[in-house]
Amino acid sequence: MVQEALTLDREPTFYLNGSYVTRAEAVLPVEERGGLFGEGVYEVVRVYNGVGYELEGHLERMHQSLRGIGVVDEGVHAEVEKLRGVSAELLRVHGLSEALVYWQVTRGVSRPRSFVFKAGNPATVMAMVYPVQAIDPAAAPVETTAMLAVDERWANCWIKSTMLLPNNLAYNRALEAGYGAAVMHRDGVVTEATSANFFVVKDGVLWTHPDNGRILNGITRQVLIRLAGGLGIEVRESLYGLDVLAVADEAFLAGTTTHVTAVTAIDGRAVGDGGVGPVSRRLHGALMGDVAAVCGMASAVG
Ligand code: PDD
Repeated sequence: MVQEALTLDREPTFYLNGSYVTRAEAVLPVEERGGLFGEGVYEVVRVYNGVGYELEGHLERMHQSLRGIGVVDEGVHAEVEKLRGVSAELLRVHGLSEALVYWQVTRGVSRPRSFVFKAGNPATVMAMVYPVQAIDPAAAPVETTAMLAVDERWANCWIKSTMLLPNNLAYNRALEAGYGAAVMHRDGVVTEATSANFFVVKDGVLWTHPDNGRILNGITRQVLIRLAGGLGIEVRESLYGLDVLAVADEAFLAGTTTHVTAVTAIDGRAVGDGGVGPVSRRLHGALMGDVAAVCGMASAVG
């Protein structure tokens, strides 16, 4: 259950390699390695009330992801640092205060097509913004259902790679089957959802897959673990199997575009009593409270 981007009511402006350009100009060469090989990383930042929530955390992860795909050139990292100002300018140009900001860096052009990385090859740095519906921080968590899917991804899911084909296959299979999300598992271990992390609650304890490289260490995941500590909720970051899903009291997705979304049924079987559980509700409230405080929003939450 992802909060989808809306269409802009005007001609959009994109940022591409140092320039602000129109959609017609915002074109990547066919020999760009992002398209040829999926050699790219990205970030999605949610802007509430004009403020990028956890923007610094997203920026830091972008640097880590780039190093993870071997892009260590200081010049590229310096361009990534500029994305703070670029994002502010794109929001200003479009007059947006509720938005998703998308950043992407791909390795650059390979002419002719070659498997070999070339040192000093200029990377492609782009950014774009989309409007989204404002949230009501006082509203109850969104609910969804999920389908289980085999996690067919690579071993470096900690890198926020643009290579999302396995995620998109699983997600679209779930949608076609009438579910709102796909929760993935590998060798019997529950990993995460296709564009969100996954948590379960059993006997008041919050369980989630550890940050061991096999999942994306979501920014929202990190915030929720911190907030859970403040609420006195015990967190267990350890591997757990599909058997835990059968006995879980609650389950939820967590991510930049999902916030806390309660998963009320998995493969047609109710999770707990099939409603939004108390721990999910508290964590959702805490997340919304943090968003409201950080982004200067009026909040009816605690
Ligand atoms: N996706 N796991 C995966 C596989 C993801 O793609 C995402 C986010 C998350 C949650 O991470 P964060 O809390 O940092 O958003 C976990 C983004 C939103 C996307 O692809 O649009």
